[in-house]
Formats: sequence, structure tokens, C-alpha cells
Amino acid sequence: MSTATLDSDRITRTRAVERLVTGQATSDGAGVKLTRVLTQNLQRRLDPFLMLDAFGTDNPDDYIAGFPAHPHRGFETVTYMIAGRMRHKDSAGNEGLLTNGGVQWMTAGRGVIHSEIPEQEEGRMEGFQLWLNLPAKDKMIPAWYRDIPSSEIPEARFDGGTVRVIAGESRGVRGAMQRDGTQPVYLDIHLEPGARFEQSLPADHNAFVYVYRGGLSIGETVVPVQRMAILANTPTADGVVLEAGAEPTRALLIAGRPLGEPIAQHGPFVMNTQAELIQAVRDFQAGKLV
Ligand code: FE2
Repeated sequence: MSTATLDSDRITRTRAVERLVTGQATSDGAGVKLTRVLTQNLQRRLDPFLMLDAFGTDNPDDYIAGFPAHPHRGFETVTYMIAGRMRHKDSAGNEGLLTNGGVQWMTAGRGVIHSEIPEQEEGRMEGFQLWLNLPAKDKMIPAWYRDIPSSEIPEARFDGGTVRVIAGESRGVRGAMQRDGTQPVYLDIHLEPGARFEQSLPADHNAFVYVYRGGLSIGETVVPVQRMAILANTPTADGVVLEAGAEPTRALLIAGRPLGEPIAQHGPFVMNTQAELIQAVRDFQAGKLV
């Protein structure tokens, strides 16, 4: 992280909103209904981020079958559970339970096969899954994961709100996770009506905000609920200022250092070249992703 975030995050010039994006309704796994907010056509613009899915429903039919065993290679998945219980197991023998407010950070590296299955048959299931790319040099590192219960996610309070610091740093609080290559910032920001939040960001890091309760403004732009605001990389801006509207508001702010490397994706594999994708499929078929 830049040391600029160690001061009080006073922003002299905010980034503007370049574009508002409405997610696409889709389903994945064994029929889990979700909204794909960051889609494949935005991977270059939002490098190092590859995907953001939002799921939120009170209807068990929308989530009950979960995500049976499937492989990954070449990137990291960050699952943030707002409400619900999800059991995950992987081919390395790891197992964990993701519950309200907790995060699972998984580095697929050279390969893992895992399942993500709800452990509830009723009630609300809500959360997000972010895919974060790995630098080319790290795509074949051994798989790794960490369960971060809600109680281990650092929080900072400020006038009119709270920020949960999942990764990176905010208001002098170091987050639960740090990554050298992509330097991700992952914040869950809770604002009272009219409250203001400032976050310093290096101008060349790609960044976006996703509003999941209420609504907020960034500069001149109103960002309604269930919209992603892609933040412009304004060279003279030193960060971003969010101002909540008339309702209690919650939003994710996600930023990272772009890798600037080729992106080749085939489903759950994200590498740099087609040849590496073919190899990933062969290795999976040969049972080498365990
Ligand atoms: Fe997965």
C-alpha cells in the first residue's frame, strides 16, 4: 500500500465516476441465482479484477444447490458473506464454514477443486464473490486459503459511519489481507444518511464502488443501489469521496494495482495464454488439480 493512506485520508480532489454499470442476472454452479456485476468485458478496464458476483435472496430455491465440486487455476477468489452460512471443502482436505460478515480468501494458484454449499435451508443468503487475478509469476504457486471470521476483520469508525477493512488499508487501519502484487483494497463501508467517507487511492490503481443498500454520490454522480460505479483514473485525483443520500447506505469500495499482463480465461481457469489454458484443462482432466 501507498503510505498516503496512513494520514487521515483527507482527499483534496475526488475521482469522478467514469461509468455506471448494472449487473446481469445469471445463474452459476447448480442453479444459484446471482447478479454478475463485473463481467468479462470489463476485465481489462478493471485489471486486476476479473469478476464480481452479488447474490442476495430470501428464497432458498435460488441458492440451495450451491456450487458442487469445480476447479480453479490462476487467480484468487474472495467470498464475503453478508448473511447466511456456506460450507466449503477442497481437494487439499481443507474445510470451513463461512458465516455472517466473514470472508474466505482462496488462492487457487496452480489448482484446486472445491465446493461451496449452503448450510441453511431457509432464510436470507446474501454476499459477494470477487475474482482477483494473480501476477503471471504467481499463477502456478501452491493453492492456499484462509477463513477470516467477522470478528477478525478490522474496522475503523468515523463521523457517521464504519469501514470494515477486508484488504489494504483505510484510515490508518490495516486490513485482514495484504497482497504485494495487486495491492488490493477491499472495503465494506457503512454510512448513516448524509455521512461522508474519504479514501486515498493511487491514481493509476483501478477502482470501483458497488452500492448494496441505500444510495450515495461521488462528485456530481448519484450512484443508486445495485449499481457499480467505475471510478475514473483522473491523474490529479488523490482518492475518492463518497456521500450517502437520505437512507442508511452500504457499499463496497474495491481498488487494485493493474497487472498489465495478457488475460486468457476459459471458465474457471484464468491464465496469460491460450496454451496455458489448454494445459489447465488437460491437467484437470488428468486429475492433477488436486
Ligand atoms: Fe469456486
